[in-house]
Amino acid sequence: MAKVLLTGGAGYIGSHTAVEFLEAGIDVVVVDNFSNSSPKAIKRVEQITGKSVALYEADVCDKDATRKIFDEHRLDAVVHFAGYKAVGESVKKPVEYYRNNLDSALVVCELMREYDVRGIVFSSSATVYGVSENVPFKEDAPTGGCTNPYGWTKYMIEQILRDYANATPGVSATLLRYFNPVGAHPSGEIGEDPYGEPNNLAPYVCQVAVGRLPLLRVFGNDYPTPDGTGVRDFIHVVDLAKGHVAAFQHMKEGVRTYNLGTGHGYSVFDMINAFKRVNNVEIPYKIVDRRPGDVATSYADPSLANSELEWKATLGLDDMCRDAYNWQRKNPNGYRD
Ligand code: UFG
Repeated sequence: MAKVLLTGGAGYIGSHTAVEFLEAGIDVVVVDNFSNSSPKAIKRVEQITGKSVALYEADVCDKDATRKIFDEHRLDAVVHFAGYKAVGESVKKPVEYYRNNLDSALVVCELMREYDVRGIVFSSSATVYGVSENVPFKEDAPTGGCTNPYGWTKYMIEQILRDYANATPGVSATLLRYFNPVGAHPSGEIGEDPYGEPNNLAPYVCQVAVGRLPLLRVFGNDYPTPDGTGVRDFIHVVDLAKGHVAAFQHMKEGVRTYNLGTGHGYSVFDMINAFKRVNNVEIPYKIVDRRPGDVATSYADPSLANSELEWKATLGLDDMCRDAYNWQRKNPNGYRD
């Protein structure tokens, strides 16, 4: 049976991806240092799928600890999620972000070479398109011009993996540029569980909906968009997770880059209104100033992934809102209950 290593596999996207690999009949090994995740997520993955996951608590920057995993498993590919991901924090702690995110990616490359593991799928981001608003974004659009160190780490790791794959015959590198992942597994057993106050819209809305936070701040209603609020390509995390399985199943030598998005832009108000309607809850909010670094509009052209990976997002905004709330209601304090 094929086997993949998910670094950061206990996190939000990693845990959903673990479910989809297991359900596709592919074995999963997870390494996570639980710096922003919980081992409970993997227990829940096992409950949902009825399958077991080999779980290692280690920091991927620790090469010796990570080598043990490559030594104990014959891996077909690595899906590399592990990394710091808070945009605002990265501005305050750039050295920590560069050290952690680049080191972990380099350790993965070194161990792949040492153990002749031929495939890597990387968790990149639409943030590599920088401040451009030339939407919809196609994969060949210019990259760079990132507004924060987190974004630059994604940009740099993409380049590292391109260089590595181009220099190493037989290696396949797939760079997946995520748009805005939202929602949770329909079971409500796994979902997004940010530590502290959420940075992103959907977890903030969820925590307001269950009364854990009093009020949503809408960052600006004077953007050049239909209702003045920011427009994003929200994608259900289960669709996103399936994109990784498709990427694995379509690996071939060389480097490939795909947008994972729905191709539709929805505004912050669209999200709030769908959430209220689908879940029959109130979301108190107030309009505040724009958040520095935000663009008005960002959405994908996902047609390359549609054709080459035979993958397409199938779930809509209502599904995202329903599943996100279901998770939050069942787990008001995330995995800390
Ligand atoms: N927003 C609010 N209030 C909040 C949080 C967000 O109004 O409390 C608005 C933002 O201004 C933006 C939209 O909701 O218009 C989406 O914001 P998110 O923070 O949820 O998502 P971003 O598009 O800013 O960020 C996402 C990923 C990053 C990635 C970035 C750029 O979370 O990892 O896209 O592609 F870097």
